[in-house]
Amino acid sequence: MVEAIKLNEKNNPQLKGKDFLQLSDFTTDEILYLLNDALELKEMQKQGQPHPFLSGKVLGMIFEKSSTRTRVSFEVGMLQLGGHAIFLSSKDIQLGRGESISDTAKVLSRYVDGIMIRTFSHDSVKELAEHATVPVINGLTDLQHPTQVLADLLTILEHKGKLEGLKLCYIGDGNNNMAHSLMEGAVKVGMDVSIASPPGYLPDGKITEAAIKEGLQTGSSVVITNNPLEAIKDADVVVTDVWTSMGQEEETEKRLKAFEGFQVNEELCKQAKADYIFLHCLPAHRDEEVTGDIIDGTHSVVFDEAENRLHAQKAILKHLLA
Ligand code: CP
Ligand code: NVA
Repeated sequence: MVEAIKLNEKNNPQLKGKDFLQLSDFTTDEILYLLNDALELKEMQKQGQPHPFLSGKVLGMIFEKSSTRTRVSFEVGMLQLGGHAIFLSSKDIQLGRGESISDTAKVLSRYVDGIMIRTFSHDSVKELAEHATVPVINGLTDLQHPTQVLADLLTILEHKGKLEGLKLCYIGDGNNNMAHSLMEGAVKVGMDVSIASPPGYLPDGKITEAAIKEGLQTGSSVVITNNPLEAIKDADVVVTDVWTSMGQEEETEKRLKAFEGFQVNEELCKQAKADYIFLHCLPAHRDEEVTGDIIDGTHSVVFDEAENRLHAQKAILKHLLA
């Protein structure tokens, strides 16, 4: 097990009742605190120690997009914490027939102790959080995927023994949820970030500016480039994601062309550090954004990363809902 990160006892944050919408809403200490707790919860689960911190609590989970990992890890996580999760497909609830987000938020708040939502617009999640009286957790929007990135940080910490000072390189669609949340999360914990994307697919300007500013406080650098070779040079962590995210299916052909030269493959990875690790949030398209020899190779930790969704989210749930 990785050593728990040292925290100033006085800085132990109070997260009860908070929403989890994007990592930029959290302090460095709060993120390290959640990672610490995720490590402890993981150990408890591995040792078979019961940990019913959320006994009797219920999480409502609204899904407007498909999911394997997010749905199953939240559901299993609630069960392991002694609570219960309810899967609410937008196809089946009145939200899908036009009931307002604010009414949905107010009604669900009368029944459940927390709401997780996966949807398209980030503003919808913000609106839900504004009107809900229970914590709202972002389970992916077009703009952000913060629970995934908390799991990614946990995975990096376990494999590298630290976060601060490492170089994380992301190659591919810079304008998607993963690139944005990775940038926000990495600078919070003092990692250098470099993102290589084709023109037209660079990260959101406001998120980039805010990350650069945050990096000045934490000692992280942020580099955005069109050159994958430059971005991956001496990277400790190499990350990619699909070129066509959920909801962009009509652009698939255009994107396949635009992202030529941005595939994570053996040749490109020669530029990373010899002991680099490879992450991908999954689902992956082998031989599009990453070759099979990389994602299934010795540097890849993608299944540890997938498992860590469970442990990282249990820490979030424990502190927000308890
Ligand atoms: N990584 C991730 O969020 O996977 P799912 O879409 O399967 O939930
Ligand atoms: N960027 C991807 C992540 C899937 C977990 C998507 O939004 O489809």
